[in-house]
Amino acid sequence: MTNITADIRYVGVNDHELDLFEGQYIVPEGMAYNSYVILDEKTAVMDSVEVKFGEAWLQQLREVLGGKSPDYLIIQHMEPDHSANIRTFAEAFPDAVLVGNAKTFAMFGQFFPHFDLPDSRKKIVKDGETLSLGRHELRFLFAPMVHWPEVMFTYDKTDKVLFSADAFGKFGALDTAEEDWVCEARRYYFGIVGKYGMQVQNVLKKAKALDIQTICPLHGPVLNENLPYYLDLYNTWSSYGVESEGVCIAYTSVYGHTKEAAELLEKALIASGCPKVAITDLAREDMAEAVEDAFRYGKLVLATTTYNADIFPFMKHFIDDLTERGYQNRKIGLIENGTWAPMAAKVMKGMFEKSKNITFAETVVSIKSALTQQNREQIAALADEMMAS
Ligand SMILES: Cc1cc2nc3c(=O)[nH]c(=O)nc-3n(C[C@H](O)[C@H](O)[C@H](O)COP(=O)(O)O)c2cc1C
Repeated sequence: MTNITADIRYVGVNDHELDLFEGQYIVPEGMAYNSYVILDEKTAVMDSVEVKFGEAWLQQLREVLGGKSPDYLIIQHMEPDHSANIRTFAEAFPDAVLVGNAKTFAMFGQFFPHFDLPDSRKKIVKDGETLSLGRHELRFLFAPMVHWPEVMFTYDKTDKVLFSADAFGKFGALDTAEEDWVCEARRYYFGIVGKYGMQVQNVLKKAKALDIQTICPLHGPVLNENLPYYLDLYNTWSSYGVESEGVCIAYTSVYGHTKEAAELLEKALIASGCPKVAITDLAREDMAEAVEDAFRYGKLVLATTTYNADIFPFMKHFIDDLTERGYQNRKIGLIENGTWAPMAAKVMKGMFEKSKNITFAETVVSIKSALTQQNREQIAALADEMMAS
């Protein structure tokens, strides 16, 4: 266990067995479920961990506490990867009080229907309320929908630490080789929190008023250097801003002709000096990575086949992933293919009907089975258009 500050200890666990995080995201480097202990006159534990690590977590707690019983378990998030061991905790430490808000305890009753915790062991806090541990004063900042309704952050005024629940988290365990934070944090953000940009903006405004020296998220590393870098990224992501100049090309292809068009476009963009082209085969590569790239860059090209008078299923899934996360402020180019009645471009365009501030390139590359000279010229024109603005 690590010291975060003189009084704060890390008591989280690493999961290398998990196949899919939240039932859908691959985690090749595993996953960390973070938990912390604040040692003071009164002792507070910040969240629990995933169900299968209950014993390992309790053991760490006991070591840190040195025989003392903790006074509080602060529940920032009721999602089971953080809340599953609340009952284990409450039974192991029968004098400890659980701290949450009204929504926390409503969910608590749902997740633990057979656990009758007396009201005297529940402390229901309001937004902005403080809790003194002795030297440490904790303030609870509600962060609804970042990314569940009951989520709250906790600010330790004494050590200037923000416990940020799932925000500022990333995929990856903490005992693997060190990797760049941003790639897996971005994939995590757009996969899991991306839909709630406005709510993230709201809580970032609250955080702006605080002097923060350390961010302790529930996944990924503790952040204690260069905090403006992380805060700026979260501001860009949650305001649907462009993080990097470049083009994301996402395609599907059955027989290879649409793929050929996508790769020709990639070459044309690189030849024109495009700073970055991220190209993805949606059927074969990690869809969450493609979603991350679509939000990262300012421009997106979608290339797919007409499929039963609709579009190829992986492309449909991908566009749904974007629109349900509030995809906006982007330029989109379209490439379609069809053997008897190509209509993929129209279908794809229609799927963005409710999206804000989307502009479409004038050139639509429409292929009938295999690429013609005219298609090659259209691809060159599309590359010019994507480079122009
Ligand atoms: C199951 C299936 C359904 C298809 N449905 C349509 C269709 O509704 N309209 C059409 O024009 N082409 C349709 N096609 C043909 C493909 O869109 C077409 O062959 C396209 O050129 C394939 O591009 P690719 O070489 O990139 O795979 C269908 C193909 C398959 C395999």
